[in-house]
Amino acid sequence: MYLGLDLGTSGLKTLLMDGNQNVVGSAHAALDVARPHPSWSEQDPSAWVAAARAAIGELRAAHSGEFGAIKGIGLSGQMHGATLLDAKDQVLRPCILWNDTRSHKEAARLDSDPRFREITGNIVFPGFTAPKLAWVKNNEPGIFAKVAKVLLPKDYLRLWLTGEHISDMSDSSGTSWLDVANRRWSAELLAATDLGEEHMPALVEGTQPAGSLRRQLAAEWGLEGEVVVAGGAGDNAASACGMGIVRAGHAFVSLGTSGVLFAANGSYLPNPDSAVHTFCHALPDSWHQMGVILSATDSLNWLADITGKDAAELTDELGKDLKAPTGVSFLPYLSGERTPHNDALIRGSFTGLGHETDRVALTQAVVEGVAFAFRDSLEALRKAGTELSRVTAIGGGSRSRYWLKAIATALGLPVDIPADGDFGAAFGAARLGLIAAENADPLVVCSTPNTAETIEPDGALAGAYFDAYQRYRALYPAIKAV
Ligand code: XUL
Repeated sequence: MYLGLDLGTSGLKTLLMDGNQNVVGSAHAALDVARPHPSWSEQDPSAWVAAARAAIGELRAAHSGEFGAIKGIGLSGQMHGATLLDAKDQVLRPCILWNDTRSHKEAARLDSDPRFREITGNIVFPGFTAPKLAWVKNNEPGIFAKVAKVLLPKDYLRLWLTGEHISDMSDSSGTSWLDVANRRWSAELLAATDLGEEHMPALVEGTQPAGSLRRQLAAEWGLEGEVVVAGGAGDNAASACGMGIVRAGHAFVSLGTSGVLFAANGSYLPNPDSAVHTFCHALPDSWHQMGVILSATDSLNWLADITGKDAAELTDELGKDLKAPTGVSFLPYLSGERTPHNDALIRGSFTGLGHETDRVALTQAVVEGVAFAFRDSLEALRKAGTELSRVTAIGGGSRSRYWLKAIATALGLPVDIPADGDFGAAFGAARLGLIAAENADPLVVCSTPNTAETIEPDGALAGAYFDAYQRYRALYPAIKAV
């Protein structure tokens, strides 16, 4: 048996998988995000441990027989968060999350030092870890002085599980301190933020063992023998492992809190100018690119919140058949945008409203706006040398067929829906747990699920979508100007 843990932004998921990769069961515990000031987004690391305890407890109660046979654990998590620990591993302040953009000035300053793009292959985005530490140094110097270790969110769970400070290459790629081509910390970049390698966890590949479960927890959960904890991965690379997106040309579109267009690459192909992220994959000697939009399902959840509906009710109101855009446009920049603009200060907008605009038209515009944001990411990947011929859909938002039709039509690409099953980040993490515990072949373990259905672009609406996309593209510079 193998356990996958995925520490998301809105909840933690744990999944139990057997040696034949059948999912035995899963459990979920919700997490809240604190937004004490505009552009801030924080979580208390103790809430992650409490959520992990709750979800693991539920899974154990439901599958007591199988749970005792766990041999390996894999970790996946929301990327980029800065978890700051003192010399006694005490948490110094709430974790500053991936969608927190308070450090945009520090990010721009670091990004203007050419060494960062050269060594990391990426823009220093405000959501990345290094500028957060620069912000803490500028604004909370007493805390900065006490920082002994900086851990990514899932690696704080590893510390709780194993007592070790270890991270993996894929998640560490989003810190702005990793030499992404050579898969090692850059002493030069750490020094540029007044830190050293001693502040960083040790590095392993996502498929390698990275600590074993502490005796006390093993005894509490009734586990005997060594339980290996794998390096694991950032949530996007972990999802890719779950979907078998590990070979060049394979791609997914993820409709989660954030939106990601992810492509596996056989080699290191950086192109920071197009605001594409180029990171190590969870498998050794492989990399991936992705375009990241900050508010995907978050945009629809925002509309649901202010209209007093839930998100599924809103998409149900759209009906089954894709409709031509109405002339109402939505820019989904509720917390700024990464790809393609790298703009922490831009905010979302509705334009083209009329007396006839009702809730359904607003929902349609939100769904289309997110689809067009993915189209921007597709163009950015193209500029970075990656051509896609199809994508697989994952994430909570992909339950809406309408949304997938809009994405297929906006991208001009077929969207595959995997056969029933749970192939997300927690499953990918469990696969990494299996690989590390059994020294198994990653390419064999990370197979692709069958496709249940393919959603083709709607040819009849291609022209209307193209026109609406041109309008969408023209809006960013216009809104920015005001
Ligand atoms: C990726 C990113 C998000 C988070 C969400 O760069 O910031 O996808 O990983 O959990």
